[in-house]
This record gives sequence, C-alpha cells and structure tokens, in this order.
Amino acid sequence: MNKSPIGIFDSGIGGLSVLQSLQASLPAEHFVYWADSGHAPYGEKSDLFVRERSLAITEHLLQQHHIKALVVACNTATAAAIQELRSKYPHLILIGVEPALKPALQISKTGHIGVIGTRGTLSSDKFNKLLGSLHDQAHFSVQPCNGLALAIEQCTDVELGEQAAMRIHQLLEKYTREMGVFGSSAGQMDTLVLGCTHYVFAEKQLRSLLGPDVHLVSTGEPVARQTRRLLEAASLLRNGPEPRPTSARIQLMTNGDLPALQAAAQRWLDLPHLVCHKADSQV
Ligand code: DGL
Repeated sequence: MNKSPIGIFDSGIGGLSVLQSLQASLPAEHFVYWADSGHAPYGEKSDLFVRERSLAITEHLLQQHHIKALVVACNTATAAAIQELRSKYPHLILIGVEPALKPALQISKTGHIGVIGTRGTLSSDKFNKLLGSLHDQAHFSVQPCNGLALAIEQCTDVELGEQAAMRIHQLLEKYTREMGVFGSSAGQMDTLVLGCTHYVFAEKQLRSLLGPDVHLVSTGEPVARQTRRLLEAASLLRNGPEPRPTSARIQLMTNGDLPALQAAAQRWLDLPHLVCHKADSQV
C-alpha cells in the first residue's frame, strides 16, 4: 500500500499549485492528478453538483489507481464535499484545503486581512463558521471573485489564452479595488488570503497591483505538511530508493483540453507533456 500513489483533484488546473508543494515535500511519492476541467469552474455551480463530481472522481481514483490518500486540492470542493467524502470513505486518508485565515492572522501586522475565493467557498457554512470564530481577532474583507478561476483556467489555452490574461488583470483590478486599500500602514490590508487554488497562478499580476509589501497567503505548503504527517502516522510513506524520474512518478489527467493542461504543467511545474493524459470522459 505504501507504494500506491496519492490522488489529487481540482476543478481544473488550480490544484497544480498544491501538487507543486506536495512534490517538494514528498519527492519519493507517486501522484495521480485529476483536472476536472470539463466541469470547471466549480465555484459558481451548486453544492450538489460539486459533491457529485467529488464523489465520482474519488471513486474513480480509488478503483482505477488504488490511491492510498486523497488531497482535495480545491477549496470549493472541500467546502461542499469533504464531510460526505469522510463519511463515505472512513478509512481513506483525506486532506482538504480551506482559506488560510489562521496563518494570515499570524502574519498580519495591521489586523486588516483580505480574503478572495469562489462564491461557493465564501458562502459555505464551513467558511463562515471559520470566519465567525476569528472575527474578533482581525478585520476581514471577504470578496468572491466570479469569473477569475475560469479566466485562469483558460489562460494556457491556445485560442483563449490572450483574452483570458487580459480578463484576469481586469477582474483582479476590479475586485481588489472593491475590497479597500492595501498596504502596510495602519488601517490598510497588509495580507491577502488566496482562498482558491487557481489564484496562486495569478500571484504575479496580484503582486504588480498590490505592491511588494502585501503578504499573499496560500495553502500548498501546510497541506503538503499535513499530508506527510498523516502518511507517516499510518506508516504509508513511500521510502526510497532514489526518487524516480518525474514521468514515472506523476500522471496528470484531464477531461478538458489536453494541450491546455500540458501548457499549464510545463509553465508552472516544469513538467513534460508526456505526464499529461486525456481522461476517461465517463467519470
Ligand atoms: N480551484 C478551486 C478552488 O480552490 C475551484 C475554482 C473553481 O472551479 O471555481 O476553489
């Protein structure tokens, strides 16, 4: 069992930002990643739809790839489906992601924190419970970013890429302006939580809009540490020998556009095209 791969899924390419941290922290492990791009974005769909997709993908990864653990590398799917996944698969090691409000509290000096995410995540009970438990410790400005995950999803598409890049810039400009003033002076937001795994791939654009002093907080590293801890506790860590070549350790599958996944994997993770595959559309 410890030689089995770790499964990861997201509505599309966003979870690659989590895979990046998993790879760095668990270099001997094998990974099978499911980009559900044929059904993206999740953030503006119903909870029921996202739950059904999450269950179907998990079942597929278990049956076809015999995964030993599952990382739900999507805030929206975690909010909508993690509870159901935990009760349906009580023996599977399951790791979800949620907007990193607690780490942001440790970082922020002004006590003014921005949070961006999908509508699904930010309107969920799970998120609002977390926010409610921390509301007396900082001032949070919460902004759903409709359209942003989709634009990021499209930005490596050959035909849509150029327009999508412009759209990302316009959306970020609009949403960050609506949130208030960013900066390190008193009363300004000095920390921005990226509550969607796609948004990590817009960090450069965010940085140029918000300036160098604003902290951008994402969840890849804590998720990788937690995955490692849980595998270790269950004696399921894959031990050497030497790490094998990337193409033997990583499989990325999409039910969307294969060249777009290949371009994203290459651009952001420096992964060769041959690790990417067109997935079974029945799932
Ligand atoms: N990457 C996802 C998240 O973290 C979902 C984006 C979407 O499909 O709307 O929420």
